[in-house]
Amino acid sequence: MNLVPVIAIDGPSASGKGTVAHGVAEALGFHYLDSGALYRLTALAAGRRGLSWDDEVAVAGVAAALDARFDGETIVLDGADVSSAIRSEDIGVGASRVAALPAVRAALLQRQRGYARMPGLVADGRDMGSVVFPEAPLKVFLTASAAVRAARRYQQLIGRGEAADLAAITADLETRDARDRARSVSPLAQQADALLLDTDGLGIAEAVDQVLAWWRVKAQA
Ligand code: C5P
Repeated sequence: MNLVPVIAIDGPSASGKGTVAHGVAEALGFHYLDSGALYRLTALAAGRRGLSWDDEVAVAGVAAALDARFDGETIVLDGADVSSAIRSEDIGVGASRVAALPAVRAALLQRQRGYARMPGLVADGRDMGSVVFPEAPLKVFLTASAAVRAARRYQQLIGRGEAADLAAITADLETRDARDRARSVSPLAQQADALLLDTDGLGIAEAVDQVLAWWRVKAQA
């Protein structure tokens, strides 16, 4: 039984869960785990070693031995800053491919659980509430329509000065979501005990406030 309080926030790509989870962690003074970054790091490290993203045994080996750390906003792999490199669309696709491999998920499981430290953790991903922290007292399924999510990702890329094509982004999000929902291990799905937060008409601050309000209720129970 894990006594560290965990808030699990799951949902599809570009739903805003990372930003919301980060805001909730900051407001509560909790640690924050971006579990998607671990799958992105695995895809990047495997690619750099010349491995195919479908080579389950080899990629799981890379995941188990990942020399990576989160240093505030900076993500370090093999001693180098890869914060931007892991956010590319190509690595997003790679992450979703390696994440479908059971041995890769198993290799990253204990590492993710290790982030649960006092005074608490906000973890975002696809299977935080279902597999990694099934005893989390608060589970949120944060989503938004495909059109809104594609528009947000588009704005994010433009904001970073990168080329962006809305139709290609929409198609890519749909492919990744379909793969995340259809895979045999830890498929993306709203858990029965997760509260639904649809952010279509919500700003970041409102979404953070909603999670904090739910947390206050749980913390008093
Ligand atoms: O959240 P983010 O887009 O960074 O995640 C990249 C990919 O990693 C997702 O498309 C998903 O396939 C995978 N992932 C996962 N389980 C998690 C977090 C991410 O399968 N807990």
